Amino acid sequence: MFTNTEESFGIIARLFHWLVFLMVVGMLIVGSLLDSLPDGAVKSLFIGLHKSTGVVLLLLVLLRLCWRLINPKPRDLGASPFENKLGHLMHIFLYLLLIVQPITGIIMSQLAGYPVKVYGMFTVPAFFGPNPQLSKVFSETHSVVATVLAISIVIHAAAALKHHYLDRDRTLMRMIVGK
Ligand code: HEM
Ligand code: HEM
Repeated sequence: MFTNTEESFGIIARLFHWLVFLMVVGMLIVGSLLDSLPDGAVKSLFIGLHKSTGVVLLLLVLLRLCWRLINPKPRDLGASPFENKLGHLMHIFLYLLLIVQPITGIIMSQLAGYPVKVYGMFTVPAFFGPNPQLSKVFSETHSVVATVLAISIVIHAAAALKHHYLDRDRTLMRMIVGK
């Protein structure tokens, strides 16, 4: 029930997947809105929420990866070894983006001279001093990686829907109800 088997995703892997999904979609939406908000208390509040949730997301993804490493996923249901390989590469790429994106956010903020506080409870140690020029480079990177992440998620979700509606296999249902 909690752990994956050869045929099914356990509840922990599924909770990790859909919680990260909700958080990432929220982060992409709020992140994209930040630019259009006028400077003021509301913008500061949303930047604070975006930064705090981004740090929590990074920790959650690292935890999820640990769980993934000690608890292998069920067998592949793809139509060919090539399709399965492609799926694996996309999953690795998604994990990579989910780690790189919050890290670029943390570095960008610290280089801009702002501390990264997590819901006012603790502050991420400052690894970098202020450097506005370099901060701009990381701000660009944060924006590009967000776009690549959004495109990858659309491709990944389309692949899941192809499995469900065209191949009519259990790939999507396994991630929703387990089997
Ligand atoms: C997976 C996690 C994250 C996602 C998906 C994400 C997504 C985004 C997006 C889409 C934008 C708008 C970019 C643009 O205007 O082109 C943005 C802006 C921003 N993000 Fe994130 N972000 C994440 C994590 C973080 C973290 C951890 C921090 C800092 C601790 C952070 C700090 C910021 C700031 C300060 C901005 C607005 C200022 C700027 O881009 O120069 N983000 N984010
Ligand atoms: C923020 C959005 C998403 C991210 C970051 C994401 C990420 C991932 C990752 C990393 C895996 C690999 C799990 C592992 O083996 O460790 C995975 C599996 C899966 N995802 Fe997503 N996902 C997202 C959204 C979606 C959506 C919207 C759907 C459905 C429409 C979906 C359906 C699936 C399915 C069915 C699997 C299992 C694939 C298999 O059994 O090989 N995901 N996802």
